[in-house]
Amino acid sequence: MGTVVDAPAVVTEKEVVAENMLGDKKVTVVFVLGGPGSGKGTQCSNIVEHFGFTHLSAGDLLRAEIKSGSENGTMIENMIKEGKIVPSEVTIKLLQQAMIKNENDKFLIDGFPRNEENRAAFENVTKISPAFVLFFNCSEEEMERRLLGRNEGRVDDNIETIRKRFKVFVESSLPVIEYYDAKDKVKKIDAAKPIPEVFEDVKAIFAPYAKYVIIYQAT
Ligand code: ADP
Ligand code: C5P
Ligand code: MG
Repeated sequence: MGTVVDAPAVVTEKEVVAENMLGDKKVTVVFVLGGPGSGKGTQCSNIVEHFGFTHLSAGDLLRAEIKSGSENGTMIENMIKEGKIVPSEVTIKLLQQAMIKNENDKFLIDGFPRNEENRAAFENVTKISPAFVLFFNCSEEEMERRLLGRNEGRVDDNIETIRKRFKVFVESSLPVIEYYDAKDKVKKIDAAKPIPEVFEDVKAIFAPYAKYVIIYQAT
């Protein structure tokens, strides 16, 4: 009778270990994408509360960087005013620092990757690939109405910049969603519905990540 011999490993142990690792912590990352005003931030707050993820908004991190008086502040502010996408190295560094600083191992990365450069650079630098991509689908008409009513004093929530952001979304961000869709990683949500209804759909997607599982045993 023959002896059973282990098949040679195709992937080395080092490569397996490096994947989705942040230092010695294995992380789960979900990219939350959708046009400006589609409700990404709103729904991320709900996901944090119910499913124990940490929310990292690339836009919020960039705005905090401006406020901190960083040497990149003026460049970032000018890009945001114009609705343009900040070079990946800046945004990735902020995301990486925020993930390392946080003890959690489950992150919602909101508003990133915004273009092909963001996507490829993040993958190359961090070796992290998303568990899935949550995509909030909404019409421009509805998003425009929401952005004009947001009232957070943002320099980019004016009609001129909003139009530029929509153009950047269609030309640069939608191709990223198509990239992940081709890999069957996109979970698309109808984001035009009222907030609680959108969250019902979101909840169904995040059910496997529930914080607590209650088991009822019939006696
Ligand atoms: P994003 O982060 O995608 O730009 P926000 O979560 O900041 O979007 O939402 C933009 C604005 O629209 C906010 O004022 C928010 O309260 C509102 N909003 C979010 N989701 C909905 C919804 N489903 N229906 C109506 N208004 C919404
Ligand atoms: O996601 P949010 O609407 O907060 O993004 C605001 C702006 O921040 C974008 O219009 C863009 O100028 C900048 N941004 C970026 N790169 C990202 C995310 C946001 O340059 N990945
Ligand atoms: Mg937002």
